[in-house]
Amino acid sequence: MAVVYKAFAKLNLTLEVLGKRPDGFHDLASVFHAVSLADRLTFEDAADVSCDVRGMALAPADNIMLRAAELLRETAGLDRGARIVLEKAIPVAAGLGGGSSDAAVTLVHLAERWRLADRVSLADLAAQLGSDVPFFLGTGAAVVRGRGEQVEPISPATHGWLILATPTHALAGKTGRLFAVLTPDDFGDGRATERLRAAMNAGEPLRDDWLVNAFSRAARATFPALAETWRRAEEVAGRPFHLSGAGPSLFALAANEAEAHRAAARVAAATGASAHVCHFEPQPRLRAG
Ligand code: C5P
Repeated sequence: MAVVYKAFAKLNLTLEVLGKRPDGFHDLASVFHAVSLADRLTFEDAADVSCDVRGMALAPADNIMLRAAELLRETAGLDRGARIVLEKAIPVAAGLGGGSSDAAVTLVHLAERWRLADRVSLADLAAQLGSDVPFFLGTGAAVVRGRGEQVEPISPATHGWLILATPTHALAGKTGRLFAVLTPDDFGDGRATERLRAAMNAGEPLRDDWLVNAFSRAARATFPALAETWRRAEEVAGRPFHLSGAGPSLFALAANEAEAHRAAARVAAATGASAHVCHFEPQPRLRAG
């Protein structure tokens, strides 16, 4: 039987890099929030694991979803497969966690389909696949720490609508490169994340001056034309934009859906970036049908 799931994108409302670790990764403190922009995944039984990608070109080596299915199969010592159709809507390698979300949904669904819930730790497998994957195993809003594997759910944002702007880029190994160009001046102490956690848990509306991202300087210096796109987006939307993840996606809070649509159209026309309107997902329901 074919079942359909949504895999939601995320934004980093804060992203503080605390320092570099002996294993080469960096310790983070970040508020992650799911948003309504989503890929669609359809699963069916099959002899082998395979994946058809629609809507965007994606090299098989970049398909973390295939790796998720294979890792689960190997860990459980199973001889079963699945045909997965992935309809991409979330821009790839953009700071929105699309691939990580696809991988997490694949783990969640195939563990259920193959009745492995008691036999494998999805949290462990998610952390092996990528630093952003554990967040996507279930919650809408969380403080994420460590390399990304420590996920503490918090109250979702009370604010609703957002404008996203994603410039194209061709930077291979983007996340690793951006981490590599951080300097100690870009590092934070986790206080911005603590402040936002307290405000969200108290149900306070989001404020632009609470949103910080350690990659803001490095991303402007690394993605060609990002600085100009950023400036123009703020000018035509009349709102501050913030970086998500290691970029290059930018987001802004909007007062309501109508403002978000107006601003997104202006940003797309002025910058050529792909613009989306979305809202926060307080508690994602992954299964769509
Ligand atoms: O875990 P993921 O595959 O997303 O990480 C990609 C690269 O980003 C890593 O190889 C590492 O260089 C860097 N990274 C890091 N610290 C993190 C997450 C990622 O240095 N917490």
